[in-house]
Amino acid sequence: MTEAVTYRPPRPNELADCALVWHASVNDYMARLGHPLPPPVLEPAVRLGEHLLGTDPEHFRVAVKSSPGGKRERIVGFGIGLQREHVWFLSQLYVLPDEQHHGIGRALLTQVLPSVPETGAGATDSGVGNSVDAAIDRRHGVLATCTDSAQPISNALYSKLGIVARMPVFNLVGRPGSRSVFPPLPEGVEAVALEPPEMVSHRNPAAPGKAELRQTIDAIDRDVLGYAHQPDHLFLRVQGRTGFLYQTSAGEPLGYGYSSQVGRFGPVALLDETLTAPVIGHLLRAIEPRGAASVWVPGANDRAMVALLRAGLRIEGFPAMFCWTRPFAAFERYLPAGLALL
Ligand SMILES: CC(C)(COP(=O)(O)OP(=O)(O)OC[C@H]1O[C@@H](n2cnc3c(N)ncnc32)[C@H](O)[C@@H]1OP(=O)(O)O)[C@@H](O)C(=O)NCCC(=O)NCCS
Repeated sequence: MTEAVTYRPPRPNELADCALVWHASVNDYMARLGHPLPPPVLEPAVRLGEHLLGTDPEHFRVAVKSSPGGKRERIVGFGIGLQREHVWFLSQLYVLPDEQHHGIGRALLTQVLPSVPETGAGATDSGVGNSVDAAIDRRHGVLATCTDSAQPISNALYSKLGIVARMPVFNLVGRPGSRSVFPPLPEGVEAVALEPPEMVSHRNPAAPGKAELRQTIDAIDRDVLGYAHQPDHLFLRVQGRTGFLYQTSAGEPLGYGYSSQVGRFGPVALLDETLTAPVIGHLLRAIEPRGAASVWVPGANDRAMVALLRAGLRIEGFPAMFCWTRPFAAFERYLPAGLALL
């Protein structure tokens, strides 16, 4: 007798199982392409899972197979969407290799999609409509995700909802050999450390206060990324990323950027794209990674691409692809924190 599949929210102690599903499903096709994954390091995936479950529990579902009688349960897939203002982003969707192609991925996706009211006269379908117009035009807000260019299944599944691959994202990895490609911050541009707010005001009385700083970051995010996401900033800082606000000496905001000693770089959001190379250079000098730096660079961010490649970083693996129903971010001025959390 075949096991039935059910869908439900995850229990907190199931996040490591989800991370194992992620590893198994990606390793399955990467190994076939000659790029097997290293053994799984579950900790970062579990921390991210906790953050996403904590900030958007409604859009996190697991697919569970139960043995007859329901005595044993095992997670065979999971999906996580995160809603930030008007943008819904599919952070993760993975199904165990042996369970793929049986509709589990589509069922999970349907459950983690936002229940957004449709606009326009005669708009009646509740989400996954059959009409192409319904998929692309009629939604409030934006549906977006990031896929692997080597993965036809996910790209096909999302494209049917209008979440079509629009832009490559390259992983640039290495230690900058030549730093001369990164000019210093221009005269009159200063970097203010984004430490916990009480420490900022203690160390630097001229630094903006807590509420003001939050508003400033929100305004930069809405201009560059299209939506504000304070909880994600907090998560990244708790996970060891160090950030700076860039501003004029008169206190006019210009953008922000993060890096970390373990080499995870970003996010970087700039109001003025000519600051891209100086800000990357400042971040790499201020928080020198112990090993290689790893930066996700959208194709639109030509300035970051040119500077980082000329500094000696190398493109690693296949590009990922940003997918969306309609444009929402100025990626020529943004470097994401990662592919599961922009
Ligand atoms: C992507 C993934 C989650 C999908 O889950 P799944 O259970 O295998 O998917 P489903 O069976 O529900 O649906 C697959 C859909 O893709 C379609 N599809 C598969 N290969 C295709 C191709 N080459 N071209 C077009 N469509 C294709 C199927 O026809 C099906 O569409 P339908 O529901 O309209 O019939 C799963 O395959 C997986 O974990 N893959 C590896 C990891 C991964 O890439 N995850 C996505 C990260 S962005």
